[in-house]
Amino acid sequence: MSIEIPEGLTELLQSFTVEVLRKQPEDLLEFALQYFTQLKESQSQGATLSHGMDLPFRHSKGVNFADEPMQTDSENGDEEDDDEEEFVAPVISRFSRRASVCAEAFNPDEEDDDTEKRIINPKTDDQRQRLQEACKDILLFKSLDQEQMSQVLDAMFEKQVECGDHIIDQGDDGDNFYVIDRGTYDILVKIDGVEKCVGGYDNRGSFGELALMYNTPRAATIVATSAGAIWCLDRATFRRIIVKNNAKKRRMYENFIESLPFLKSLELSERLKVVDVIDTKNYSDGEQIIAQGDGADSFFIVESGEVKITMKTKSKADSEDNEAVEIARYSRGQYFGELALVTNKPRAASAYAVGNIKCLVMDVQAFERLLGPCMEIMKRNIANYEEQLVALFGTNMDITDPSS
Ligand code: CMP
Ligand code: CMP
Repeated sequence: MSIEIPEGLTELLQSFTVEVLRKQPEDLLEFALQYFTQLKESQSQGATLSHGMDLPFRHSKGVNFADEPMQTDSENGDEEDDDEEEFVAPVISRFSRRASVCAEAFNPDEEDDDTEKRIINPKTDDQRQRLQEACKDILLFKSLDQEQMSQVLDAMFEKQVECGDHIIDQGDDGDNFYVIDRGTYDILVKIDGVEKCVGGYDNRGSFGELALMYNTPRAATIVATSAGAIWCLDRATFRRIIVKNNAKKRRMYENFIESLPFLKSLELSERLKVVDVIDTKNYSDGEQIIAQGDGADSFFIVESGEVKITMKTKSKADSEDNEAVEIARYSRGQYFGELALVTNKPRAASAYAVGNIKCLVMDVQAFERLLGPCMEIMKRNIANYEEQLVALFGTNMDITDPSS
């Protein structure tokens, strides 16, 4: 008796297997359920089989996720533009592990280049000057060209803030991205139903990008703790210019970030988010990157070249600083500057460029938000620092105390 293999079965199973091998899901059955459900959906929406095979999760013109069932935009009552499809939103929580989430790189070629939608909010000279000052260090604006930047600045509008105002409420839909002109703000996140203050902004910085980039509900509440002013950028302009531009960065850094062993506890989508938040900085030979004893607000990954870590100890007799001693060297793919962020203490050592080098830099908020699942690996390395110092200095040192 000959058994006839139904047409398409081989391709169907092959493509499914490839997806399983690519995504390495923890729960195979759940993954299979999502895969075939979404494949069916995309087929009935007229997508070709091979297109669907390539990407079983919903195609959209923005960053795209599939996850455990969660709130969608339409469930939130937000009527998205016709050109943005339904999505499933991942919940972001500090230092917590999420179930598998799949992310699709934003496809800029699909996005309309609709210059007609350009929004212009007129500004006085003083406003324009303050706006330019507030925006000059905003990471998401750094890779914009002149024309894109001027469209963004044109579209932004100012909002005065009173102490106690809620700029953003966790769980809401994302309307604007915000850049701080002045004032202080608390970041509150509900963890297991209890709202905790997880950080703050002091007269500079930006917030509100996550809901707009990933089509998710707001991940935190932002409350003004003084009177102040903020600059607002509407969702449509943010997506048209910033999200589109970020896709280029993803293409550049995706492979490098994927190759980093200390990020291996992150899901693919979480690693893509790391790409979204990294900044790049060049340092010339001998330049100081970190100074022992300073406060810390960034985490570093070496992209190219070498970084030398040195430490000064105090001599017991006169409590003068001893000569700095080299204690470590890092090259491509290795990280440093995590210790002070994890311990909430000043920098335990200094870091210098050896030759001209390039680092990827992540700010403390992104570090805490995204690298929670990597803490175990980092903490194991921190434990090694103590042993390394005993071997070098022959005495037990408290690396969390830079004056020791
Ligand atoms: P969004 O989710 O759009 O709205 C709340 C914003 O708070 C979020 O974007 C981030 O910009 C900012 N934020 C800062 N720290 C955190 C954090 N630990 N978790 C979530 N959001 C944070
Ligand atoms: P941080 O203290 O933030 O800044 C200095 C960095 O040097 C530190 O984080 C570590 O990443 C790195 N480092 C390397 N070796 C050591 C060590 N033995 N003790 C402390 N920090 C070290």
